[in-house]
Amino acid sequence: MKAIMVQDLTRDYNGQRAVDGISFDVEPGEIFGFLGPNGAGKTTTIKMLTGQLRPTSGTAQVMGCDVVEERQALKPQIGVVFENHNLYERLSAGDNLRFYARLYRVKKARVEEVLAHVGLTERARDKVGTYSNGMKQRLLIARALLHKPKVLFLDEPTKGLDPNVARDIRAIATELADQGMTIFLTTHYMEEADQLSDRVAIIDQGRIVALDTPEHLKAEYGEDERTTLEDVFVQLTGRYLGRESLE
Ligand SMILES: Nc1ncnc2c1ncn2[C@@H]1O[C@H](COP(=O)(O)OP(=O)(O)OP(=O)(O)O)[C@@H](O)[C@H]1O
Ligand SMILES: [Mg+2]
Repeated sequence: MKAIMVQDLTRDYNGQRAVDGISFDVEPGEIFGFLGPNGAGKTTTIKMLTGQLRPTSGTAQVMGCDVVEERQALKPQIGVVFENHNLYERLSAGDNLRFYARLYRVKKARVEEVLAHVGLTERARDKVGTYSNGMKQRLLIARALLHKPKVLFLDEPTKGLDPNVARDIRAIATELADQGMTIFLTTHYMEEADQLSDRVAIIDQGRIVALDTPEHLKAEYGEDERTTLEDVFVQLTGRYLGRESLE
């Protein structure tokens, strides 16, 4: 079974097409990089794949569950880390997780496990309001892992984080994938995508314009061995932004 199957998925907002008939599969245990310019439709796609947004047309299954018809069965299979977090700032990290543990019907002992996994054990009693961005992001990952999902969706998980925390988060992702978890990753950091992803899809204006391993993409679109994934990205999605030089 594929971890994710997407057929002709489309989403309109007020008659404007944000995601335009995309199709792809993701293998179990794969890290799938989903790259594209701002506004390309990445977050919209994740929202559809996690049952938060209804597709306008097309279908998708995650771990065999239809994302529209089988949302209840889908939920325990997936974990999601979004940019806009909804943590309780006045509660400690531990209490935040215990709250969700109850919601997900997960054993309390699991809270200590996930806190340790993301390196927050020592600060677990502190209020989340006092946390740095990096700590909040690690807490969000811990929360997404509480119920041991099979597929983890990470929407720009290292955005705005220092290189140490970013590296930590990449290491966590790699480790989870090695243990068999499927990871659907969006990022604007091309080196990160190159390093982590087994395959990447590049989406532009709602359409997938390339899908392959980073190596194949660089070989196909590049001129020599120095070609980076960023070169490929710019070649496929770059356009004139209407900017003028200063005198
Ligand atoms: N709630 C909404 N209502 C109307 N339009 C929306 C809404 N959410 C997204 N859009 C539009 O849909 C398109 C895709 O947005 P989306 O957030 O999926 O892009 P993205 O690839 O995640 O971009 P970014 O890299 O900036 O996060 C954009 O044109 C955006 O303006
Ligand atoms: Mg987005």
